[in-house]
Amino acid sequence: MASRFQNKTVVLTGAASGIALCCAQKYADEGGRVCMVDVNEEGVLAAAAAICAKGGTAVGVRADIRDYAQVKAAVALAVERFGGVDIMVNCAGGASSRVKGYVGVPYHELPVEVIDWGLDVNLKGAVYFCHAVLGQMIKQKGGVFINLGSVDGLTGSTCLDYGAAKSAMIGLTKSLTVIGSPHGIRACCVSPGPVLTRPEMARMKTRLGRAAETHEVADLILYLSSDQAAFITGANYVIDGGRSCGGI
Ligand SMILES: NC(=O)c1ccc[n+]([C@@H]2O[C@H](COP(=O)([O-])OP(=O)(O)OC[C@H]3O[C@@H](n4cnc5c(N)ncnc54)[C@H](O)[C@@H]3O)[C@@H](O)[C@H]2O)c1
Repeated sequence: MASRFQNKTVVLTGAASGIALCCAQKYADEGGRVCMVDVNEEGVLAAAAAICAKGGTAVGVRADIRDYAQVKAAVALAVERFGGVDIMVNCAGGASSRVKGYVGVPYHELPVEVIDWGLDVNLKGAVYFCHAVLGQMIKQKGGVFINLGSVDGLTGSTCLDYGAAKSAMIGLTKSLTVIGSPHGIRACCVSPGPVLTRPEMARMKTRLGRAAETHEVADLILYLSSDQAAFITGANYVIDGGRSCGGI
């Protein structure tokens, strides 16, 4: 268990906070070299420095995943610094209904810039990273993609672009499986219900009567990206305390 990720390089987007940050810490604890990507430069550099201070191997990169040149540069840095990319975790995201200044605005009144932000961060950025990493993984004859969906991608959401983008992460995962399997590349989607990366997520109902702790989702991501899950690919894993069963 202690060395599931020894000599593995993991690139994570959205790694300045929340689920990706928790994953980065856990990968590093288990011997992984982590390349932490986020648009929040101060946050991601501090997070990577904290991992290094504990004896882990990490680098923080400021990149906006909506910009392909920045995505390519982040992947190039991981390859240059650590020699390749073994695991790619597409985690950056968030609902456009939470964009500053627009909370509580009815969806049909949101300006198109807000909708574009939602689609770009939750879908386009992940497709960009998959494209930028795929060639490297094919060269390495293996690798794993983990894409973050959401229970909203299964049940629908009051935020149209978020629900649509999160459903699309399942299609992205299946398509990566079609392309990647002959090259030893696996792909999984993880679709959480409410996760306590923000206290207000506790208000979202689940059958189990609580939201997930961040580490519970991170543990699933680490398992799916480890060799213990070598026969799992093209699958969507729902971790939602039964929320998608409905009736709550
Ligand atoms: N927290 C939940 O309840 C929950 C539920 C279902 C799905 N998810 C999904 O899990 C993922 C992580 O959620 P979280 O709660 O950890 O979120 P979070 O808000 O804590 O972290 C998201 C990170 O993404 C970064 N980011 C935003 N835009 C970016 C951009 N353009 N380029 C690079 N980085 C950018 C942010 O700076 C932030 O650090 C998201 O995709 C989210 O949709 C979360």
